[in-house]
Amino acid sequence: MKIIAPLTLLAAAVAVASPAAAAEKPSAEKFYAGKCASCHGKDGRGNAKMLKMFKVEAKDLDLLDGAGTPEEDAAFVKAILEGKGKKMPSFKAKLGGLDPADLVAYIHGLKPAVK
Ligand code: HEC
Repeated sequence: MKIIAPLTLLAAAVAVASPAAAAEKPSAEKFYAGKCASCHGKDGRGNAKMLKMFKVEAKDLDLLDGAGTPEEDAAFVKAILEGKGKKMPSFKAKLGGLDPADLVAYIHGLKPAVK
């Protein structure tokens, strides 16, 4: 019983956790908040503390300062998949089924419509 009880608990936990994980790919919003905002800021403008820590320029962490052209979108997808420079990690293996283009679309959505 001492061995079986924890196993039963584990099985129950897996049963509860897995259907949701299998059915839903992570939303771009949640993924951004969990994996990107720490460096790029919730608003996409860059986290000031990280700027100092990484010794990068504000524009490097600011994801909203670009032109939003298809070329830029492609470069963003590439940066997400492969990483960029020394500090931007590759997320290729961590996307969990999320399309990097969805992340880029989410990032564009952070930009206030009226400036
Ligand atoms: C550990 C901090 C860190 C995390 C976490 C991080 N980034 Fe970055 N990111 C950077 C840095 C630093 C750069 C600038 C790299 C350079 O230009 O040398 C960058 C660059 C980028 C660029 C390219 C911007 C440009 O103008 O070319 C994109 C797009 C990007 N990040 C998206 C994301 C997304 C989406 C996530 C979450 C999945 C994320 N980043 C998570 C630090 C981070």
